[in-house]
Amino acid sequence: MSASRPAAVIVLAAGEGTRMKSRRPKVLHEICGRSLLGHVLAAAAELEPERTVVVVGHAREQVTEHLKAITPDAVTAVQEEQNGTGHAVRMAVEALRAQGVELSGTVVLTCGDTPLLRGETLRGLVTAHEEAGNAVTVLSARVPDPTGYGRVVRDADGVFTAIVEHADATEAQRAVDEINSGMYAFDGALLSQVVHRLSADNAKGEEYITDAVALLRGDGHRVGAHTASDRTEVEGVNDRVQLAEARRLLNARLLERLMRGGATVVDPASTWVDVDVEAGRDAVIEPQTQLQGRTVVGEGAQVGPSTVLCDTEVGEGAAVSHTVAREAVIGAEVTVGPYAYLRPGARLERGVKVGTYVEVKNSVVGEGSKVPHLTYVGDADIGRGVNIGASSVFVNYDGVNKHRTVIGDHARTGSDNMFVAPVRVGDGAYTGAGTVVREDVPPGALAVSAGSQRNIEGWVERKRPGTPSAQAAERARAGSEEDR
Ligand code: UD1
Ligand code: CA
Repeated sequence: MSASRPAAVIVLAAGEGTRMKSRRPKVLHEICGRSLLGHVLAAAAELEPERTVVVVGHAREQVTEHLKAITPDAVTAVQEEQNGTGHAVRMAVEALRAQGVELSGTVVLTCGDTPLLRGETLRGLVTAHEEAGNAVTVLSARVPDPTGYGRVVRDADGVFTAIVEHADATEAQRAVDEINSGMYAFDGALLSQVVHRLSADNAKGEEYITDAVALLRGDGHRVGAHTASDRTEVEGVNDRVQLAEARRLLNARLLERLMRGGATVVDPASTWVDVDVEAGRDAVIEPQTQLQGRTVVGEGAQVGPSTVLCDTEVGEGAAVSHTVAREAVIGAEVTVGPYAYLRPGARLERGVKVGTYVEVKNSVVGEGSKVPHLTYVGDADIGRGVNIGASSVFVNYDGVNKHRTVIGDHARTGSDNMFVAPVRVGDGAYTGAGTVVREDVPPGALAVSAGSQRNIEGWVERKRPGTPSAQAAERARAGSEEDR
């Protein structure tokens, strides 16, 4: 039997997350390019539920806005005061009722702070729940330190009877290392009824959803506990230490996927990737590299060491080292760096070379062209087979507006040029060293703008007498007189 399509997934995300000590609500903290809540919703989405309900409370404007961006069709249920997990689920049930939805079939309940949760684990829970015909099935886990968690309580025959919260547990119950993950599969119709019967008569004075287990069992329904094989999947993030640990574990999982797909990751401990990153076969990711957003590394490309790429495409066989790039397209067989900075809209066509201390923004560099050294290329269209001399600046900004520069195919521009935009250098044109290109250069012309050089003889000895420069000049002059 395979899991049915759940009637709903309910995600609890109203708590404050005080231990984060943050202005930002806990569930909006990010690891690997996605919020904690976003990771849970991604796992939930794999079940293709008919609807997703997120219970919001603390900082609900921020959480709701985030939800609109990532899961616009989620229903939000507001829990004004955080009166417990049972109360939160009741708010979800009532929000659906207000929309005319009466739950029936399987309903999955999760928390918003477990970013390592996988869709397949939820699917395993739903399958176990439906196969057993349970009213509720708890996802449990065995953990080395169960302190703080609700415990899975079993009778003398090992039959699951209830969940007891840590604060309410006896010594014997506290010794149990099987804990409640806070994730459950429920019969939706029974859940809708039982949330009205939870009492707040307990250590915390809150309505516990966990009490639903004993209540439903008392009514003669079947209840079950399904143990998760990987406890890290159900561990919630409560503070920044756990946030870092979750990031490390998720990163390792993502890197493993890339390596199993045929990419080499030289040093997984110093390589960080986001969830949507892709790498082709025989791609090599060198140490100290971060690949963020929707970055894609093509087959056989080499990225790193010490490189940060965000939303950047790296073509087949390209080599990118010691580089920072954002929203850039790096074509096949391109070389970038060391020490290059590619900004949004940088597009390097096949075989381009962008070298050391080169910044490129909103510009196309045509096939096989080279910008090898110390140059800023902004708002330019550079043709094919072009060589841009060292230390040049595309002067794109007149203080008010940005303008474009066009460099024609096979142009050769000298070192230390300024291209004062808007300006065009024609196909096959040359420019001399130090040229300030203010006017268009016709195809095949040589543009020079520097005046001819004038030497003022003896200036240093007259104006800077006694300095090491003046002394060196005197020695050189004496030497050349002796030579004569
Ligand atoms: C809960 C369980 C516990 C389980 C643990 C797993 C209850 C009574 N206990 O404990 O058995 O071992 O989770 O992590 O359910 N929330 C709301 N509104 C509220 C209270 C909580 O939305 O009024 C949300 C929180 O934002 C969080 C989740 O529910 O996402 C769990 O709340 P939390 O306070 O962490 O529950 P625990 O006491 O840890
Ligand atoms: Ca918790």
